[in-house]
Amino acid sequence: MVITGTVGKVGLIGHPVGHSKSPEIWNDAFENQEIPYIYLPFDVSTGDLGSAVSGLKSLGFRGFNVTIPHKVSVMNFLDEIEEEAVEIGAVNTVINDGGRLIGTNTDGEGYIQSLQSETGLTLAGQHIVLLGAGGAARAVGTALAKAGAAQITIANRTMDKAEALASRLQRWTRTNAILLEQIASPLQDASLLVQTTSVGMSPNKEACPIDPELLHSDLLVSDLIYHPRQTRLLKEAKIRGARVHSGLGMLVHQAALAYQRWIGKDAPIKQMMETLDQSLK
Ligand code: ATR
Repeated sequence: MVITGTVGKVGLIGHPVGHSKSPEIWNDAFENQEIPYIYLPFDVSTGDLGSAVSGLKSLGFRGFNVTIPHKVSVMNFLDEIEEEAVEIGAVNTVINDGGRLIGTNTDGEGYIQSLQSETGLTLAGQHIVLLGAGGAARAVGTALAKAGAAQITIANRTMDKAEALASRLQRWTRTNAILLEQIASPLQDASLLVQTTSVGMSPNKEACPIDPELLHSDLLVSDLIYHPRQTRLLKEAKIRGARVHSGLGMLVHQAALAYQRWIGKDAPIKQMMETLDQSLK
């Protein structure tokens, strides 16, 4: 695409951003759809966050994504925070609405759309074990609780973080907090296991957050990690007859929801999925 003065601009702020697959996914989608926009990544240190946000506004960016470590602190520099972002306690997408910066969060809803479209699962009534209690668990846990899960057991290495998330989600569903090593019994009764920790992420591909022997064929095992696409946990789940869902779709669906907000059109989800798949090979 030839860049002219009229090209629309969106982007990403984080630290680091060098590994991010988003620029590739977004710019391919714009090119494919003939949308005159570009997506640019910016490595922004914590001390520069406020000036970077006002700079993007001054430069006429239509919006930007926010990633680690700015998802919480960016809220200090926005004019409005939508309910989803307040509930999750973090912003991953900012919309510049004529100079007014609106923060939202598409991670939770993106996850639910990916899970439902790829597995056909109905969330109402599910007994869920959620591994981890960090930022990703908060986004996904909030969305699962609001989607009608019957029970969410939060299993984490650190108990106080599990307890904090359990009490956050209590307003929507039944929750309880346990340590990772207490997972055997709740997992026996669960229908969905959602893995949100960094255990098993490349390059530590052989790591598994739980004893694989605890996995069983009545489970759907969903791992938020997308690199590698098949984590050790998903491989072990498959061996035991469980259904599996990878984190690749969440990355695409959260982007697709931002695309809709910024561009006002449906994103080319299938093509974005293919771009991501190719870039991970
Ligand atoms: P993210 O935003 O990706 O969720 P985070 O907020 O730093 O990142 O949360 C990381 C999660 O992975 C936490 O639940 C963390 O457990 P603690 O709360 O005990 O720190 C979990 N985690 C990271 N490394 C882990 C490990 N080696 N074993 C078990 N859990 C781990």
